[in-house]
Amino acid sequence: MLSVLRLRRLVRQVPLQTSFIFLFLLCILSVFLSSYFLYAVKRKLEPSLAAGRSADDLYVTPSRPLPFLSGVGGTLSSDGSRTDPVVLVLTWKKCVLYIFVFIANEKSLLSAQLKGFPLFLHSNLGLKDCTVNPKSPLLHVTRARQVFSGPLPGDDWTVFQSNHSTYEPVLLAKTRSAESTGLMHTSVVQDLGLHDGIQRVLFGHNLSFWLHKLVFVDALSFLTAKRLSLSLERFILVDIDDIFVGKEGTRMKVADVKALVETQNELRRSIPDFTFNLGFSGKFFHAGTDEEDRGDDLLLSYVDEFWWFPHMWSHMQPHRFHNQSVLAEQMMLNRRFAEDHSIPTHLGYAVAPHHSGVYPVHIQLYEAWKRVWDIRVTSTEEYPHLKPARFRRGFIHRGIRVLPRQTCGLFTHTIFHKDYPGGPQELERIIDGGELFLTVLLNPISIFMTHLSNYGNDRLGLFTFKRLLNFLLTWTHLKLQTLPPLQLGNKYFQLFPSDAEPLWQDPCEDKRHKDIWSKEKTCDRFPKLLLIGPQKTGAMALYLFLGMHPDLSSNYPSKETFEEIQFFSSHSYHRGIDWYMEYFPLPSNSSSDYYFEKSASYFDSDVAAARAAALLPRARIITVLSDPVERAFAWYQHQRAHADPVALKYSFHDVITASHNAPVKLQVLQKRCLAPGWYATHLSRWLEHYHHDQILVVDGQTLKTDPASVMEKIQTFLGLENQVDYHKTLAFDPKKGFWCQLLDGGKTKCLGKSKGQRYPDKQSQVFLRNYYRDGNIQLSKLLYKMGQVLPGWLREDLLNIR
Ligand code: A3P
Repeated sequence: MLSVLRLRRLVRQVPLQTSFIFLFLLCILSVFLSSYFLYAVKRKLEPSLAAGRSADDLYVTPSRPLPFLSGVGGTLSSDGSRTDPVVLVLTWKKCVLYIFVFIANEKSLLSAQLKGFPLFLHSNLGLKDCTVNPKSPLLHVTRARQVFSGPLPGDDWTVFQSNHSTYEPVLLAKTRSAESTGLMHTSVVQDLGLHDGIQRVLFGHNLSFWLHKLVFVDALSFLTAKRLSLSLERFILVDIDDIFVGKEGTRMKVADVKALVETQNELRRSIPDFTFNLGFSGKFFHAGTDEEDRGDDLLLSYVDEFWWFPHMWSHMQPHRFHNQSVLAEQMMLNRRFAEDHSIPTHLGYAVAPHHSGVYPVHIQLYEAWKRVWDIRVTSTEEYPHLKPARFRRGFIHRGIRVLPRQTCGLFTHTIFHKDYPGGPQELERIIDGGELFLTVLLNPISIFMTHLSNYGNDRLGLFTFKRLLNFLLTWTHLKLQTLPPLQLGNKYFQLFPSDAEPLWQDPCEDKRHKDIWSKEKTCDRFPKLLLIGPQKTGAMALYLFLGMHPDLSSNYPSKETFEEIQFFSSHSYHRGIDWYMEYFPLPSNSSSDYYFEKSASYFDSDVAAARAAALLPRARIITVLSDPVERAFAWYQHQRAHADPVALKYSFHDVITASHNAPVKLQVLQKRCLAPGWYATHLSRWLEHYHHDQILVVDGQTLKTDPASVMEKIQTFLGLENQVDYHKTLAFDPKKGFWCQLLDGGKTKCLGKSKGQRYPDKQSQVFLRNYYRDGNIQLSKLLYKMGQVLPGWLREDLLNIR
């Protein structure tokens, strides 16, 4: 029951689009899995539709879920063995979501009844001319208006037959055989649950046919009572980039401009206020043939018909300019051009050539955009990566909303039908149920990028969007709309508020990103080692010792945050990676520079692990864990030493035993004191993002008593070429009571006064031992799994528990 509730909560928290896409992918994955099981493994699987199955969690089972009744209309395969065509079950919560995909193979029974079900299957069929049953209660996005004429892909379809009223056809098609009588067969059927109380949707093929994909979307929506469902609203914005930029002979002429306006009016009949969004580079105005220059003039005479956005004046890539004022000057030229030609300058949207400077972020571009144009919205295909396109998302940086941009199959060079890569039919395929159709189906907001050249020549841009609209209106109930970019930006983050937070990746991990990243920047300026804390376990001592190694260089201290950068765990993250890099020296010899940083707040931060792994996927991670009971007490003392008023007011015992009724400040202090000691919880989070081989757990106690041995282990872990013998470079300082750096002349350099206390009285031991007991047991299991040695204090603790 608990897990059901947890799942429900989870489903509510996951953005709808994500869950939707997740399920969609899961199903496709299942088809592959199924095929694997069916064709490759062919092992016996138990029927999975047992009435008593507990299906609280979402899962997909490649299996033979519905046993066949032998003999009833069934035939045996040529080698006499029984094979069943039913291979996939996708379930989500008992009685809520059952979707079956039936894939026949050469050994499938040609005709069979599902055991215990009044349903007959006929397999291995070729189908054609598909139609949607207008009475199907399943339909939400799908519209039953027209027959899809022509063959359906594949010749291994399964169709369903039944007299029982529980089965309602969703999709129907004819068999492809010559003697076909025109009889319609059911290729997707909905089980209304009248037979056994369970509703299902059964697909007679995989999801390679676009109508199946469309119906699958509706099946998810219906069977989850609209919990996994997108609204019917779809917002579309079509950018036409490179206005005035195109090469002579490929630009728009007078007739093309007129066609653009006419098509816009035509599209407005179905998409209210639809307006093409034109991005201009003024430098190239009148740079075509005479006929094309007249086209430029006509475009400007229609200035109020369109929305406009500035491109770069000379179509240059912003990341090539390190200097913000050079960028601003260029923008000013374009702005003056706009003002001289009455082009609106207040729409707040811009895009950059080749996405340069948007992502990876070139901060100079953002600042210049804001200064010159008051830009508040832009778009890119590059975040987090170009591919897979379905994962593209938006984010907000420095007050600019960056929206995901979609591909529509048109590029600067695709200007003639006959030359379209793969032939003209390929563009039609993309539109009619293909990638472009699916983009609109699965994304509430789609911003498409096209180019001037797509509207001259064969006007493929006009062809594409007219055909797309026609297809969408024929096959779906989607309500198509448009909004100017600023409003679209607001809409996007209303729908996907969690996207606002960016997740910075290493620009050098993606070739496309690297190509549009400033040459003045280098990925060798990122740390390769993170010392993640937690506080009061000895991380500062370790930081000092690491800094003594000739191959390692630490970050510059931060004045703001007690020397630590705290990039991944604090608001500084939003300043971007350029800010972070400034904390590391410019690499002298990039191959040998090994930077590291220590921020004790990373260990128990909810977000640091994911952020660090996105930017530094290959980094090594070191955490120092000491007895959490002692850590909590040391932390409390540390707060008192720093005159924290709450710590001064309350005793340690008061702090750790504070109840829910205690003053809020006390509760906050309690959490800060105790939570970092939930080692297993925090370590698990890091393990979700880093392979266990990348993480080293250092025993805080050994670090105190035998730091040289710890340093030996760390050097091996980091794979450093120079092995330093720390027995020779560290010395125990009896006055300090700790190990310190040994200086020339025999003197020692120890950590400051605030590090290395001796506490006479270890208070509240019993209470805290109990408090951390379960967590410590979990930690020991985790360390065992990671193949790491258990710290001495943990072994001792576990012995006492027994
Ligand atoms: P106390 O100051 O309470 O004794 P951190 O740097 O992670 O905040 O941890 C501080 C703790 O590091 C100190 O806590 C001390 O116990 C421990 N420590 C380990 N080795 C040390 C060293 N060589 N010098 C000083 N403190 C050390």
